[in-house]
Amino acid sequence: MVKSDIVWHQHTVTRESRESRLDQKGVVVWFTGLSGCGKSTIANELDRQLSELGRATMLLDGDNIRHGLCAPPERLAEEHSAEFADRFGLGFGETDREENIRRIGSLAALMASAGLITLTAFVSPYLRDRDRVRRIIEAGREGDFIEVFVDTPLEICEARDPKGLYKKARAGEIKNFTGISDPYEAPKSPEIHLDGGNGQTPAQQAAEVLEILKNRG
Ligand code: PPS
Repeated sequence: MVKSDIVWHQHTVTRESRESRLDQKGVVVWFTGLSGCGKSTIANELDRQLSELGRATMLLDGDNIRHGLCAPPERLAEEHSAEFADRFGLGFGETDREENIRRIGSLAALMASAGLITLTAFVSPYLRDRDRVRRIIEAGREGDFIEVFVDTPLEICEARDPKGLYKKARAGEIKNFTGISDPYEAPKSPEIHLDGGNGQTPAQQAAEVLEILKNRG
């Protein structure tokens, strides 16, 4: 244990009381996969389906979180100083992705402890980073980290290319692009494995995840 002058406060309103008020259990449903694999679309659809059932949810999504909490250096340089951007901005190199996932993992853990069904959609390409988040979340309560691998072949993601990023990556205009010039380490035993190339709609895939969540209580 690292010695520190910072102590953890036990608050009066406990996780259990928050969960019982919401009549649900907080959990983190962690979608991972290549850019364009469909993770954001499926997570968004799952969020909609859960909301329709009256569940309290939150959706954390790569592109959106990189507008604020995990903004890239070029954005921070506009809002702060070049030095600040250099220290705290996050790009797509290995250590920046590691820090991105660390921050999001912490945030997701807090949201789950508020009783929310927390959906996250990040490329999160490194096994080690995802496993670290799993350990942190499961230290709170076992089974609270549900990894969903959206397994869509690179050729399909590249053919979709919804933001034109694969084209730019192939042209060498984007460095460290996952699947092209950077690795993607597939989960070894995810709780849920979705075949992104089987022609199912995002709504069907979200419904499959929802069914599994219901079965897990
Ligand atoms: S990571 O790897 O988890 O830190 O990435 P994440 O925070 O999910 O951000 C991924 C989105 O950023 C866009 N983008 C890139 N993705 C991968 N590699 C590189 N180099 C890159 N540059 C920009 C891209 O739009 C990703 O969004 P999705 O929704 O996955 O397509």
